[in-house]
Amino acid sequence: MPYEKFSRFHEVMAEDSGQSVLSSLEAHIVPLVPGLKERLARGIRMLDAGCGRGRILLRLAALYPRSRFVGMDLSREATEYARARATEAGLKNVDFIAADLSAFHTTAEPEAFDFVTTFDAIHDQGQPLNVLKGICRTLKSDGAYLMQDISGTSHVEKDIEHPIGTFLYTISCMHCMTVSLAQGGEGLGAMWGEERTREYLNKAGFRAIKTHRLAHDIQNNWYVVTK
Ligand SMILES: C[S@@+](CC[C@H](N)C(=O)[O-])C[C@H]1O[C@@H](n2cnc3c(N)ncnc32)[C@H](O)[C@@H]1O
Repeated sequence: MPYEKFSRFHEVMAEDSGQSVLSSLEAHIVPLVPGLKERLARGIRMLDAGCGRGRILLRLAALYPRSRFVGMDLSREATEYARARATEAGLKNVDFIAADLSAFHTTAEPEAFDFVTTFDAIHDQGQPLNVLKGICRTLKSDGAYLMQDISGTSHVEKDIEHPIGTFLYTISCMHCMTVSLAQGGEGLGAMWGEERTREYLNKAGFRAIKTHRLAHDIQNNWYVVTK
């Protein structure tokens, strides 16, 4: 069955990000990046790569009408859904593009965005390093990249202590690795962990990486990354 047919998947992902991201977007997530709230209010360009159904961007586009937002995702179905919600809400400052980001390191528009995000969207990419290189390329030199990804150590034996480690390894094998491997990709899996995340970010060209944890969220690390 083609990947496009898994419509329920993007619905579930949107529910998940609704719980872990939307509920704390303004109070806890935007403030992770110094000065971001003010810059969004003044007007910047933001990209959400692997945006799925785009709920986070739709919220930001409504909150910050002077900024312009772009969401990209492999799934045409998910981006069409997001575009329809934007039209319904009368939002003119957000666009959703169906795009395979596997070669984003060559296709990304250089220095185009002030702020880039990925929410749970790097480890199941076909070519995660290419996506990260593309994000580095498309980010302005004074911009910031915020990456939400699953917390883990990059070592199975150390993850035994993880409060929901068994669950996360199961989801990873059943879904995340499969999405990537089905694209002929790396199959990193959700439990690629902080050590490997930092290694990939460095290889992609980023130099400064700060890891944050949010009190309400035992599942994710929040990396604030700059060039
Ligand atoms: C776990 S979902 C997260 C979606 C969304 N960020 C959210 O939080 O609801 C990962 C997303 O990565 C997208 N994705 C996977 N491979 C991709 C590729 N090669 N190019 C672009 N997006 C891809 C999937 O379609 C999916 O929407």
